[in-house]
Amino acid sequence: MNNQLTQLMNPNGKPRYLFFGGKGGVGKTTISTATAVWFADHGYSTTIVSTDPTVSLSAMFHQDIPGSNIVPINQVSNLWGLNINPADAKGIFQARLNGMMGQMSVFLGEDTISTPCAEEMATFDQFVGFLEQPTSQVIVFDTAPTGKTLRELAMPFDWAGYIEKQIMDSNELASLMNMDATSLENLSRDKLRYETALSMLRDPKNTIFSLVLLPERLPVEETQSAMKGLERLGISVQALVINQTIQPEVIEGNQFLASRYNLQSGYHREIEKRFSQVIRTNLPLFHHDISNLDMLRKVGKYLYGE
Ligand SMILES: Nc1ncnc2c1ncn2[C@@H]1O[C@H](COP(=O)(O)OP(=O)(O)O)[C@@H](O)[C@H]1O
Ligand SMILES: [Mg+2]
Repeated sequence: MNNQLTQLMNPNGKPRYLFFGGKGGVGKTTISTATAVWFADHGYSTTIVSTDPTVSLSAMFHQDIPGSNIVPINQVSNLWGLNINPADAKGIFQARLNGMMGQMSVFLGEDTISTPCAEEMATFDQFVGFLEQPTSQVIVFDTAPTGKTLRELAMPFDWAGYIEKQIMDSNELASLMNMDATSLENLSRDKLRYETALSMLRDPKNTIFSLVLLPERLPVEETQSAMKGLERLGISVQALVINQTIQPEVIEGNQFLASRYNLQSGYHREIEKRFSQVIRTNLPLFHHDISNLDMLRKVGKYLYGE
């Protein structure tokens, strides 16, 4: 357990947004759901939101968790879940955009509403909904693997600029065509929504961005590049969870474990050197997978205490 981590994550009267990123398979779903269960168990109303198109959240809680609305998690009081499916989100988003741009697409062309990044935009649009109207005190995001998350987060930067340009272009066009002003107002409102959401993501008092990694070379390199990428977006990573750390007491003369332990130790030193400015917490490698509530609670205790 790491006191600093618990303090960092604890909400201080305002809703707290907790993001967990990292390479595929490093333990994001495990750690974000364990975090959500820990906060729910400690009396905070909590929502766990996954933007991974896989069904991992549903599998973890052994219940169907939809992408359209938040549902209570059956076995944990204070906990709700949502599994945003980027493909479905795209449909909802496009419908909204079509309505908004309907009048203008006559002038601007259909391609303005079918961009190659529509899924990311749509997923982010659902994110933004949460940031605008927090559903609980703690909102935990189990994000998709790093590269994709970065793209999702970067999207509104382009999108806000794109909207701005559309507004400027359309203003002239609109006055020429004597167009009704509602579409333009909607565009301006969206731009404002995205900008507000971004400033929230960048504010370390609202949002804690953590990365999960393994003590191995590729995850260490990827963590460094993810941190830089996020930094460029004005978001600082505040914590690292170093997962699947082998505890010395489990070695008991086993050569295989001993050599894995030595390998990990080198990377632990490397992580300490490279990322000394962020809170670092180890989570041990357990002798079985983490697929039920008891195990999630065990993980929560390791990370945040009793
Ligand atoms: N500390 C750990 N000890 C043992 N198994 C773990 C640990 N962390 C994660 N796992 C297992 O590793 C697999 C991948 O974890 P998962 O959380 O799904 O990764 P991600 O969401 O980053 O792709 C799962 O089967 C999970 O149970
Ligand atoms: Mg996952």
